[in-house]
Amino acid sequence: YNFFSDALPLQGKKALVTAGPTHETIDPVRFIGNHSSGKMGFAIAEALQRLGAQVVLVSGPTALKTPDNVQQLHVISAAEMLSQVEHHFDDADIIVMSAAVADYTPIEVATTKIKKKEDVFTISLRKTTDILATVGARKSSKQTLVGFALETDNELENAKGKLARKNLDYIVLNSMQDQGAGFAVDTNKVTIIGKDLNKIHLPLKSKMEIARDICEIIVDHQLIISE
Ligand code: CTP
Ligand code: CA
Repeated sequence: YNFFSDALPLQGKKALVTAGPTHETIDPVRFIGNHSSGKMGFAIAEALQRLGAQVVLVSGPTALKTPDNVQQLHVISAAEMLSQVEHHFDDADIIVMSAAVADYTPIEVATTKIKKKEDVFTISLRKTTDILATVGARKSSKQTLVGFALETDNELENAKGKLARKNLDYIVLNSMQDQGAGFAVDTNKVTIIGKDLNKIHLPLKSKMEIARDICEIIVDHQLIISE
């Protein structure tokens, strides 16, 4: 019985976590963003670090403090997040992608402030690269890959679709319909779905506690795949 390796089950493991929103620039003073606070991803980065992992946290703009002993890389856009994730992915044993990445980005970025003119104004957007699907396609058998799904309807079906399509080991389903769940709050209510389609429903609790539950599942998965 090794007390130390039990207390720090992720010692020697590398983890990559994405968190926060991305901001897609429209002009020098404006962007397209979303309400992600980054709290869930930062809690996961902190929990993984406490379990002994060496953690790289790739985060979009947030108001949060870097967790102790975590290496935080600051990005703004989906494209920047993609390049940091691609740079660190192969080295990581554990990858948790909790960022709320913009799905679309302006095709053209104005170099000067856009002035108001017409009553109706249209911006053309192009789909961003799906970071999670990109890394899912090259995941190795030694890696644990966890994604998130934010849904307002048809939640389980949509989440299972993402789990399969993006080649994930687990998907954490956030339902916007749940009280106390969502963006700015400190609590969340999630369902974790595994590749085998086993479902774990977690009751409403703090994001830190949910992070620890997710990490427990990750520790077990790392044990199984390293046997
Ligand atoms: N994701 C990503 N890159 C994107 C979009 C999403 O890495 N360009 C990741 C998110 O970090 C999350 C997962 O994909 O882990 C699911 O994100 P979500 O927005 O729920 O799903 P989408 O696949 O973008 O589909 P939709 O928004 O249409 O539901
Ligand atoms: Ca999306």
